[in-house]
Amino acid sequence: MKTLTRKELINMYFDFFESKGHKVIPSASLIPENDGTVLFTTAGMHPLVPYLLGETHPSGRRLTDVQKCIRTSDIESVGDNSHLTFFEMLGNWSLGDYFKEEMIPWSYEFLTSEKYLNIPTDKISVSVFEGNEDVERDNVSAEIWESCGLTKNQIFYLPKKNNWWELGSGSGPCGPDSEMFFDTGKEKCSDKCDPSCDCGKYLEIWNDVFMQYKAENGKYTPLEHKNVDTGMGVERTLVVYNGLKSVYDIEIFVLLRNKLEELTNKKYEENLKEFRVILDHIRTSVFILGDEHGLLPSNVGAGYILRRIIRRMIRYIKNLGVENSILESLANIVIDYYKDDYKELLKNKDIIIKGLLEEESKFNKTLNSGVKMFNKAVSNLNGDMIDGTTAFKLFDTFGFPLEFTIEMAEEKNLKVDTEGFKQKFKEHQDLSRTASAGEFKGGLADTSEMSTKYHTLAHLTLAALKEVFGSNVYQKGCNITPERLRFDFPLDHKMTEEEKKQVEDIVNKHIDEKIDVIKEEMSKEDAINSGAEGTFSDKYGDSVFVYTIGNVSKEICGGPHVKNTGELTHMKIIKEESSSAGVRRIKVVME
Ligand code: ALA
Repeated sequence: MKTLTRKELINMYFDFFESKGHKVIPSASLIPENDGTVLFTTAGMHPLVPYLLGETHPSGRRLTDVQKCIRTSDIESVGDNSHLTFFEMLGNWSLGDYFKEEMIPWSYEFLTSEKYLNIPTDKISVSVFEGNEDVERDNVSAEIWESCGLTKNQIFYLPKKNNWWELGSGSGPCGPDSEMFFDTGKEKCSDKCDPSCDCGKYLEIWNDVFMQYKAENGKYTPLEHKNVDTGMGVERTLVVYNGLKSVYDIEIFVLLRNKLEELTNKKYEENLKEFRVILDHIRTSVFILGDEHGLLPSNVGAGYILRRIIRRMIRYIKNLGVENSILESLANIVIDYYKDDYKELLKNKDIIIKGLLEEESKFNKTLNSGVKMFNKAVSNLNGDMIDGTTAFKLFDTFGFPLEFTIEMAEEKNLKVDTEGFKQKFKEHQDLSRTASAGEFKGGLADTSEMSTKYHTLAHLTLAALKEVFGSNVYQKGCNITPERLRFDFPLDHKMTEEEKKQVEDIVNKHIDEKIDVIKEEMSKEDAINSGAEGTFSDKYGDSVFVYTIGNVSKEICGGPHVKNTGELTHMKIIKEESSSAGVRRIKVVME
């Protein structure tokens, strides 16, 4: 069989869906802008939530893309054959257009046709939703799969836990999904073994989500505007097509692995876990640091996840006996490999390298003393539990992420008192803002009324900042939850009380003026020529939406927005701080 490269797979997918009337849209940022419930984009549909909820997308109703994604909820599984913290997801969407009758035969065609993935039909298994007291069994999907040529024993009925998709909030559009698996040919691990089993017999490669219901107060009613959202993992599909043993055998990891062997004088096969953690984590850190909304390691939120990933990687490098810094050589391979598809990586190369090296140097300063303290605690231990105070001290003084201490403890068959740690943590910080206590969720935010209001407030805030500080102020970052707006912009000094008041007064005046918010669709070129602020202009296809608020603001934006500024209440800047060199961050609430 011929080998398939990453690039060829992506092009094959796009060609297929273009032939079915889809438009290719670019990957969105890894750091979600309008969704406070997740720290990273975990699936291709994240940036499309407003459109799944009914907004019109400028590129139409049939879309396809490859989206960079991060999932760190099972970071501990990295090192096995299939888990990664960063991956690319191919996807296609029907926004109120086609549904199961078209999608399932297309999936079957793409998987089995000689022109595409050419997987033998008998190697494919699928799952469909088995039904529950609220929603009927998805017999429709099963029948379509059968009419494509699958036999009954290739179709598995699984419960909500496996075959249902809904927003994190549990309300809004939702529905059953149908997952497709490659049967590796391994023996079943037990009589009960089915595609939901982790034993390695079945490898999931694609998921078709059929949003056909609307959930409200626990009730499910049929949805008028039905959507399809599908996701195919690039790495896993390459494994299947090329008959590889693990995701670490794909091109980028072979390049990194060869370099790592050269740098460490160690063999991949003899140090699987260490190598795989390093290969995965260097790619993930490069993508986070180099993202268009990139961030730096810190002790909260997404910055904390990044810190954990970099530090974990450094610890594994040290386990391989390497004391000198090798991060830059590895990072360069990642940047070079992906630079054509993710232009931000080359653009942010200096930030990426500096971010890695600074974190390494910070960590090196405390790592040895931390390990000493850890070993001392272990030798003084009665029982098998490291107390919360020690874990907190390792975190606070020596920069050891909690998960890291747990991992070191597990290597010695010990446990850590995480409750005690959380207690200590609470005494020192506001826990609600951190991901350290396992707060990382995979859900999605509902586009609630408040989020919409804050979205419009963000446009008014940017306009006011420009009025006060000059027209070269732009939106460097924006994060919205139903409770507040966080906005980053370039400025060389701390805002004075007077300047804060000026910004508030300007925004509140525009709220009082009850100005209409007008939405127009136009080509990207016309939008830029019309003077629209183009912060996100690289994000959508040829056609874009422009939101105009009187003569106050004009921005290219996906929305959604309120219809009139009078729907907002007065705003207040409740916090102003530095976000990074030359960038200020404000937190804004509506009263
Ligand atoms: N959104 C679906 C998934 O992530 C396709 O599996």
